Amino acid sequence: MDGVKRPETRADLVQIKDPFNQTVRCYRVQGTDIYFPPFPNLDERLKQFPDIHARNDDILVCGYPKCGTHWIWEVVSMIVQGEASYSPAIKESVMMEAVSNASLDAQPSPRALNTHVSPDYIPSDFINRRCKIVYLLRNPKDMLVSMYNHTFNLLPFYGYEGTWAGYFELFMEGRVDYGDWFRYVRDWENLIDARPDLPIHVLYYEDMKKDPLAQIRKLAEFLGKGENLELYRGIMDKCSFKNMKQAKASCDDEVEKADWREGKPMMYRKGEVGDWKNWFTVSQNERLEDKLKRELASSKLRFTYVL
Ligand code: A3P
Repeated sequence: MDGVKRPETRADLVQIKDPFNQTVRCYRVQGTDIYFPPFPNLDERLKQFPDIHARNDDILVCGYPKCGTHWIWEVVSMIVQGEASYSPAIKESVMMEAVSNASLDAQPSPRALNTHVSPDYIPSDFINRRCKIVYLLRNPKDMLVSMYNHTFNLLPFYGYEGTWAGYFELFMEGRVDYGDWFRYVRDWENLIDARPDLPIHVLYYEDMKKDPLAQIRKLAEFLGKGENLELYRGIMDKCSFKNMKQAKASCDDEVEKADWREGKPMMYRKGEVGDWKNWFTVSQNERLEDKLKRELASSKLRFTYVL
């Protein structure tokens, strides 16, 4: 993490096969079980990735996919701008693994960037400069349901025609975008424990759903902003699921319409806590619970599954 050890960045485009012979297109980092989405030229992109230049006032919104990145990136952008109005840019335009270093360099300061990479892939300049990091977590059951829907509905992108049952198995084996979720959350927790000097603000999706105003105030404080209840109430309102779905879907999703099944974007799907109950079988739930107990035995993470 101190700029000494660089993560492996050579990657190949592969097809991951689920137990029912349905395949997901993705990149696999050579010699590892880390996967990336099939972004155009991701193999070339990854080589440049460790050399992204950070700035002292950068803010990184980090988290495993489908934990509410679009939501919190918008909230962070509004707090930084001091205005409850939607960013004219889309979250994908500052997604570090999906765009070029030159395009990130061209962004004006202060930048709110975002990424799903695990801590060892965060470019060392951000760590050395102690840039502020907002780390997102969501209960793994809702996150997994969201991820299946994402992968299934981005048909032209992933080419996946599989079922929930098939994707569930891929997830349990860690053969999904960004690799094994259990390892991912352990790695972040280890970094937070090992480096208390790094400014990392942990934000749970379920806490945001339960009391968005309280969470926005905490986030603003972390970002060094003073109390401004009128602004924070405005941000809460603009960033409610209903309002964001209506306002952002027309600009965010429009850009990437061709990537979606039947051209119908679904980035803003349900935005709920507890949708997993509509998808998990009793046996899948037991298996995930067992794995959570085993893999996160020493973790302090506590997830909320219903509100
Ligand atoms: P669901 O698929 O469960 O609806 P990400 O932005 O990291 O890809 O996460 C996407 C998930 O966050 C989706 O979950 C999406 O609906 C949800 N989401 C997006 N905006 C939201 C908002 N304003 N409030 C609550 N959830 C939101």
